[in-house]
Order: sequence, then C-alpha cells, then structure tokens
Amino acid sequence: MKTAAPTNPVLVIGATGRHGNTGEYLVRRLREEDRSVRVLARKLGERTEQLAELGAEIVVGDLHDRQSLVPALTDVDLAYFTYPIAAGVISAAANYAAAVREVGRRPRTVVMSMGPAHPDHPSDLGKDQWLAEQVMEWAGLELLILRVTALFHQNIAVLHAHSIRRDGVIRNSFGPNSASWISGRDAAELGLAGLLHPERFDGPVTYPLGPEGFNHAEIAEILTELLGRPIRFEPITREEWRQDLVELSGLEDAGVVNPSMAQHISSVGYTIAQNGPTLPADPEGLRRLIAREPLRLRDYLQANLDLLQPATGDGAHIAPAAPQ
Ligand SMILES: NC(=O)c1ccc[n+]([C@@H]2O[C@H](COP(=O)([O-])OP(=O)(O)OC[C@H]3O[C@@H](n4cnc5c(N)ncnc54)[C@H](OP(=O)(O)O)[C@@H]3O)[C@@H](O)[C@H]2O)c1
Repeated sequence: MKTAAPTNPVLVIGATGRHGNTGEYLVRRLREEDRSVRVLARKLGERTEQLAELGAEIVVGDLHDRQSLVPALTDVDLAYFTYPIAAGVISAAANYAAAVREVGRRPRTVVMSMGPAHPDHPSDLGKDQWLAEQVMEWAGLELLILRVTALFHQNIAVLHAHSIRRDGVIRNSFGPNSASWISGRDAAELGLAGLLHPERFDGPVTYPLGPEGFNHAEIAEILTELLGRPIRFEPITREEWRQDLVELSGLEDAGVVNPSMAQHISSVGYTIAQNGPTLPADPEGLRRLIAREPLRLRDYLQANLDLLQPATGDGAHIAPAAPQ
C-alpha cells in the first residue's frame, strides 16, 4: 500500500454501492494516485473494512443527518457526491450544502448525476436530481455536475437478471431505439477526472456520453451467443415495466431495485422509445475525458454471466450483488 501524499483528504460519499458502485472504484483510483481519501459511510462492515484496507479513512455519517456530515467535511477541499437511484436526493443535497456552509471551507464538489436531471423530465427522480443540484448551486457550492448521458452496464444485471434467468427475456419500455452505454467503472473515471483534472470539462454542468450504442434486442442477441441459450427482447409499455419493477422490488433478492427507480427507469425508456435514439455514443469524447480506453458492454456481460444463468436446485435466485 502506498503512503498517502500529505494533502487534505478527498471526501467520497457513496463508496459502498451495489449499482454502478462508482464510489468504491473511485476510492481505489484515488489511492493509486496517492491521494488521501475519506469515505462517508452509513454503517461499518465488510465493505468499509475493504475500503480501509485500501487506505481510506472511514467516517460514519448519513446524508439525511446533517449534523453527521460536519465532522466528515472538516479539512476537505475536494469531494465526490453520489446518491443512489432512489428517493431522497433533494434533502440529501440540502443537508450536504448546509453542512458545507457550517464548516465554511467550500470544497469543490463533483456530483455524479444523470442525463434526465431536468425540471420537465417525465422521471420524478430526474426532476428531483435537477432540483437537488439547484439547491447546491443556490447554496454557493463550487460544483462540477456530471450528467452522465448513458446507461450503466450494471443495469442489465440490476433490472433484468431475474427475467433473463427465469424466462430468457429482457422486458422494458425502451422500444427498438438504441441508447448509449457506459461502465460504472468509466463513470467513476469521469468522477476521478472531475476531481483531479477539471480542465478537461467545458463547464460546471456537463453531459458525458457513453462509448457505444445498443438497443435491447442487440443486447439480447449478444446474451444469446454468450449464454448459449435464446434470450429475446420483449417491448412493453412504461406502465407495465414500472409495475414489473415495483413487484421485483418487493422480492427478498431485489437488490437495489425500488419503486422510485421503477418510475424513473420506465420513464427514461419511454422517452427514448418516443423520441428516437436520443443518447448517441461518443467514444472519442469519453476517451479524452477519462484518458483511457472505455470498457465495452460485451466484456461486462461476459464477466458477469453467472448473474444471468438460470437458478439451479430449488429455484432460489442469486441476487445481483455489487456488479463490477
Ligand atoms: N444506473 C445508470 O444507468 C446511471 C446512468 C447515469 C448516471 N447514473 C447516476 O449514478 C448515480 C448513482 O451512482 P452509483 O451507481 O455509483 O450508486 P450506487 O452504486 O447505488 O451507490 C450509492 C451509494 O450511496 C450511498 N448512500 C445511499 N443513501 C445514503 C445516505 N443517506 N447517506 C450516505 N450515503 C448514502 C450508498 O450506501 P449504502 O451502502 O449505505 O446504501 C452507496 O454507497 C446516480 O446519480 C445516477 O443518476 C446512473
């Protein structure tokens, strides 16, 4: 393990994720860059032990408990803010902004955001994310907002593993249109670039694109080849998909799927189905920002086939946990 450079710690909020898991990857990369890192985590456990082994300092705190954020922000000049695709981002951002103001240091904050962060987006979480960012801006924070305009590879396991395993099908509301895709790892690389190389970005709010585009029928074809059994794509309406995901969220092994995510992603799919391929790919643009070769969706699928294999034995399913 490298010894940390004698700088104030970079605060990483959200490093124990089970979706894109951008925060944990970011901690690894910051340590490789010899930066000292402080992680804000809601509870101690195996995940925080692993982060501590990387050399990160762990501070227990919660974005919904403003007072708990104050000690984590002491002596911090750079911070990464991420919040899951779940309800509560507005109060999380407001608490963060209030704690920053109380500490009085005004760290430059890189916010992991999404393309749908817009006041009029049909996704409620898209509207919430936009408002959360407004709140941070009104509070006078120095921000770099990464509205990543691509779907994370990890969505395949998080949203579709159950139906792929059980019925050999991907069902959703994206229709035949393609979207751009990015690995959670490369979204984290954008976070790293935002923290350490802000000059690579055009302005305080940016819309990075993914390196390649696919529709879900094409993804089903790739899976058919990799899994050696037929996987098909079945388009369904926004409401049907929302209901499917709400039902999934009630299962014991639902992973991170929740009703707010159901409303969000089914609306994102609907928007793309209605408006055409609105998420173009831009491999060169991403390469320039992250200064490395982006990961491919096919490689993610190949590396995570075990999450998509049918359940054996008594029919119990394996939860899609912490996809890499
Ligand atoms: N999925 C996509 O296709 C996609 C595409 C573009 C952009 N994005 C953006 O990516 C972001 C999500 O990033 P991600 O995938 O890295 O997230 P993630 O894997 O879901 O991780 C979220 C982290 O936030 C922590 N957290 C949750 N509630 C908290 C609270 N109250 N206080 C402190 N920490 C809390 C979680 O900790 P616990 O372990 O305690 O839960 C976890 O460490 C979202 O803004 C989303 O819009 C996603």
